Amino acid sequence: MLVRTLSALVATAVIAMSACSSDDDDTPAGTGGSAGKPSTGGSAGKPSTGGSAGAPEAGGTGLGGEGGATESPLVARGDYLVNHVAACSDCHTPRLPTGAPDMTQYLAGVECFVKLENGDCLHSRNLTNDATGLKNRTDAEIKTMIRDGIRPTDSGDVPLNPVMPYYVFHNITDEDIDAIVAFLRTVPGVEHDVPPSADSFAVPAAANPLDPDVIPLPADDFPEHASAMRGRYLAAEAGVCIECHTQHDMTADVLKLDMLFAGGEEFPIGLPVTPVSANLTSDSDTGLGDWSADDIVKALLTGVDDEGNGLCPPMPSGPMGAFGGLHPDDALDIANYIKSLPPISNSVDDMCSWPPTP
Ligand code: HEC
Ligand code: HEC
Repeated sequence: MLVRTLSALVATAVIAMSACSSDDDDTPAGTGGSAGKPSTGGSAGKPSTGGSAGAPEAGGTGLGGEGGATESPLVARGDYLVNHVAACSDCHTPRLPTGAPDMTQYLAGVECFVKLENGDCLHSRNLTNDATGLKNRTDAEIKTMIRDGIRPTDSGDVPLNPVMPYYVFHNITDEDIDAIVAFLRTVPGVEHDVPPSADSFAVPAAANPLDPDVIPLPADDFPEHASAMRGRYLAAEAGVCIECHTQHDMTADVLKLDMLFAGGEEFPIGLPVTPVSANLTSDSDTGLGDWSADDIVKALLTGVDDEGNGLCPPMPSGPMGAFGGLHPDDALDIANYIKSLPPISNSVDDMCSWPPTP
């Protein structure tokens, strides 16, 4: 039963965005530059320009994280994690018809974030400081939901559907989880009573936390070892590269643990061609063996590949994506980690070009 439910969810994790974007084939803006992931760099209360969401390079506030002079270092760290590393805002903020995030509903939850063909919906949830959001939750309850995928309710604990990547966030440090909660406490309340999701998305138990021992380590003699270790945390523990760049399977592990970072996950988000995540391992034929760390930094910050072609959504890169707001040092740490990944041969057709050609 668990197996079956997980299979339904992993295959369709981004269908909701397709519902938002596929209604109008000649409006490329509909995808918002990034399906499950934010196309804004804006932080709480700071509206995104969002004018041309379809073209990641076409504008946007980009670098977010600007919470104002009153933001404490802890809150600023949480803001950065929520908006640029963990990409919470991507999945928890509804989109305007243009595809840009609706900043009046920042973090207020997305109805039908995942929609099955039979109409069943999984909704993401309201994280704002309203009674319909997290206002009446204790810090401990919020942390349990984010890291363990357990929602405490009056009638007992309910496991969350692992479209919410708590099995990755399980490995967020105590300091960073405190920062995330501190930031969430500053998010203006939005009244939005998200309805219960369809029973078909119920899972009998929370997915297994990602075992840190299976996350690849840079070799001892890797030249940029310390940087790569910092990048490992940002790519696979506090951040979600590992989730999109690994094929999902139908077990409680969610990810194919012997294919971590080898790409091949499909994202049916309503583009003319279905984007498939790239093999990020150092395999020289099928992975990023011939990319430099700087090429990877450039891809994250500007949204273009090593040949200057735009990356397709849902890769949340470039000025309109979450990663456009990464600190350059963090982007380099992530790049060094990616360069350290042992090769896995997995051929992924890169057929998606951005912006899409009509
Ligand atoms: C890939 C999309 C995605 C990302 C990224 C994501 N979430 Fe979620 N989140 C969801 C979905 C979908 C649910 C609802 C799951 C369910 O109801 O079973 C959810 C549920 C939650 C809940 C439970 C709330 C409640 O009241 O039940 C919390 C808290 C939460 N997310 C916080 C976060 C935080 C904080 C981050 C970033 C660190 C984050 N999420 C990143 C999709 C996402
Ligand atoms: C929401 C899913 C998602 C997340 C999160 C994500 N990616 Fe991607 N990524 C993709 C997809 C899909 C593609 C393929 C895009 C295309 O075909 O144009 C891609 C492409 C790339 C490419 C280009 C590779 C090539 O051969 O052209 C790089 C580099 C990359 N991602 C690195 C990362 C890193 C590093 C992270 C974490 C910081 C990350 N991605 C997070 C989905 C994602």
